[in-house]
Amino acid sequence: MASMISVSKNRIFSLSNRFYSYVFRVTPEGLLEHMYYGAPLSKPLDIPVHHHRTLRHAVSHFEGHEHFNLNDTPQEFPSFGTSDYRFPAIHGRNSDGNTVFSLLYKKHKITSSKPDLKNLPSARGGDSHTLIVTLEDPLHKLTVDLHYTIYAEYGVLVRSAKFKNKSDQEIQLQHAFSSALDFPPGDYEVLHLHGTWSREFNEERISVPKGRFVVDSARGTSSAAHNPFIALMQKGTTEEFGRVYGTTLMYSGNFALSVERGEFEDVRLLAGINPFNFHWRLKPGKSFETPEALHVYADQGLRSMSHMWHEFVRDKISPPQFRYAPRATYLNTWEAAYFDVDGDKVLKMADKAKEIGVDMLVLDDGWFEGRKDDTSSLGDWVADQQRFPSGIPALAKKVKAKGLKFGIWFEPEMVNPKSALFEKHPDWVLHVPGRTSSLGRNQLTLDLSRDEVTDYLFDQIDAFLSCGDVDYVKWDMNRNMTEVGSAGLAKNRQREVSHRYMLGLYKLLGKLTKKYPDIIFENCASGGNRFDLGMLSFMPQGWISDMCDPVGRLGIINGASYLYPLDTMAAYIGPSPNHQNGRVSSIQTRFMAGVFCAARGVSLNEETIDAHKDELKHLMALAKKTSADMVGGRFDRLINNGNAVCWQYTSRDESTVYLAYFHILAAPNLPFRRAHLTGLDSKAVYELEEDGSRFQGDALMHSGMPMPYVATGQVKDDMRYMEKGDFSSYLFVFRKEDKK
Ligand code: DGJ
Repeated sequence: MASMISVSKNRIFSLSNRFYSYVFRVTPEGLLEHMYYGAPLSKPLDIPVHHHRTLRHAVSHFEGHEHFNLNDTPQEFPSFGTSDYRFPAIHGRNSDGNTVFSLLYKKHKITSSKPDLKNLPSARGGDSHTLIVTLEDPLHKLTVDLHYTIYAEYGVLVRSAKFKNKSDQEIQLQHAFSSALDFPPGDYEVLHLHGTWSREFNEERISVPKGRFVVDSARGTSSAAHNPFIALMQKGTTEEFGRVYGTTLMYSGNFALSVERGEFEDVRLLAGINPFNFHWRLKPGKSFETPEALHVYADQGLRSMSHMWHEFVRDKISPPQFRYAPRATYLNTWEAAYFDVDGDKVLKMADKAKEIGVDMLVLDDGWFEGRKDDTSSLGDWVADQQRFPSGIPALAKKVKAKGLKFGIWFEPEMVNPKSALFEKHPDWVLHVPGRTSSLGRNQLTLDLSRDEVTDYLFDQIDAFLSCGDVDYVKWDMNRNMTEVGSAGLAKNRQREVSHRYMLGLYKLLGKLTKKYPDIIFENCASGGNRFDLGMLSFMPQGWISDMCDPVGRLGIINGASYLYPLDTMAAYIGPSPNHQNGRVSSIQTRFMAGVFCAARGVSLNEETIDAHKDELKHLMALAKKTSADMVGGRFDRLINNGNAVCWQYTSRDESTVYLAYFHILAAPNLPFRRAHLTGLDSKAVYELEEDGSRFQGDALMHSGMPMPYVATGQVKDDMRYMEKGDFSSYLFVFRKEDKK
């Protein structure tokens, strides 16, 4: 593989592949100055240098360089205190007690592939090269290694920073961002994803304002309030047009993505651990590594950005053993029975699952000692004696004897005050002395910054999984953190707890998933309260929301799909009226909202299953038949106008193209809509499964496929109609004709 990294004699560095070029240089003063990030350049080292030197009537950085003002100089890793007033990537207290750092180029090295982070999840390497540039504050002997990884086959740039204290005094870090990007002046917009419980992944687009705009979390989870994702884009960007810079962070805790438009119209993007409430004491000789920030440059709109993310997440982040593994359909007990579960009932549900052709029975919350509602027992992972007298391994065996797989729910990071574990170890929770701990869903958060706690959890979960009959674990986490303090850390290290919690969680997940590589772990945090690349690096799929109403779910999947491939998503047919918003909808549309998610299923009680058996059988058969296609394919958002949504999903081998169309509120006299398919073979013929009609690829893309009409009155035979009324849906399946 030819090197994708070049360095010129005058120390211009370029990272360049067929997707982008990224260029920076060492200035004569030793600063790392950013020069370019965008479309690939044929000679990236030869771009015109903008010297950023003019009389600004402002302070200047170096004596003897009176026109050199850092406040308008694009930089690779800016600090504060030497004439740059924008938010810095590094900030803290140096060995002299003041907060002025100045980082200068010291050395660099280039490695083939990509080094893993030591204690945090990282993107896998492979066909990649990594540039490590070491900066040093010569006065305070702090070094920062900036890592940049470029891949031959992906449009993603991975960055992280490693701080090392080489002095003999303590250094305290407050800002330890992973990456900084300084963009030239321009008209930019930002797209980000915000929400709350059961309303995750709403899209908001705003013009980048003067000043600073931040999406972040201080909740201890990456959170549903703001997913760790931002797209900075050319004004007016659409699905198909516009330059887009996407950024995410491979981290599941308190993060910040900060966008600042400076006084000279330039835009600075910082990605990393949230500096609010963060403080890390770096003893002499010690290092601190940041999570990885991932950047994508796409020049054909949001769709092309999403394609790049999807491929990368699937190939370099998700556990590789599940990359193309068709996922089992499941019957989950939660919305079918809530806490009212027992051995007999579970076996009956297993029979129902079997009858409708579902592959796996998942026993959700409520199976352990004393857990009859959400007020008690988290922490005591022992099966309830009365309701599950023969225990969970025996139940798993019986379920499996019926020809099903078996899955189980845990919420390992939590404890109820009403539990044996809390009675025994009251200091194992996050708390601060002298303050009443706030409860969330009646529970407290275990202190995963302590090894004894993660060791206990490993043993508890291991005891279940070692029976060998568990195929799936739903890993839930149902509250945000408060009173974040640890009895295991000194007073002056209490502001390290949130990050140390994450390190403990990742260590625990790493140990479990390594020991049980064939078990599918599904990431859940009251739905999408911790849906991020950190968690998805251990778990191939996630429960993105508790919202299973199809209208709610459509928006959630649409928003999440900007970054996450549908391979990482699970969806099931829940009850109607929906338990979160009361909406009544058909089984067909409830299924269809999640039709392109890798994992699909139902959470319905026996009566409902019996009442809709034939339809459910049909839909589960469809889920099964399409399960191999729903991993590794390409997802495209074609229409989303508030009342109509159309998605395309193309199988990995490109032989099958699915088109799902949704109409939300019925109305008379609607327009005839067309969906313009994308990425087809122009010259190939595509046959529509339902009636054998044949279309040329280019016609489907350019002329478009007429969408079914929403029937309100009399219907005519020669039209294709949706089911009548609100919340209707339609699935087209096209088979590409084999040219041979
Ligand atoms: C929240 C999850 O999102 C639900 O799916 C369910 O597992 C409950 N927790 C169980 O308490």
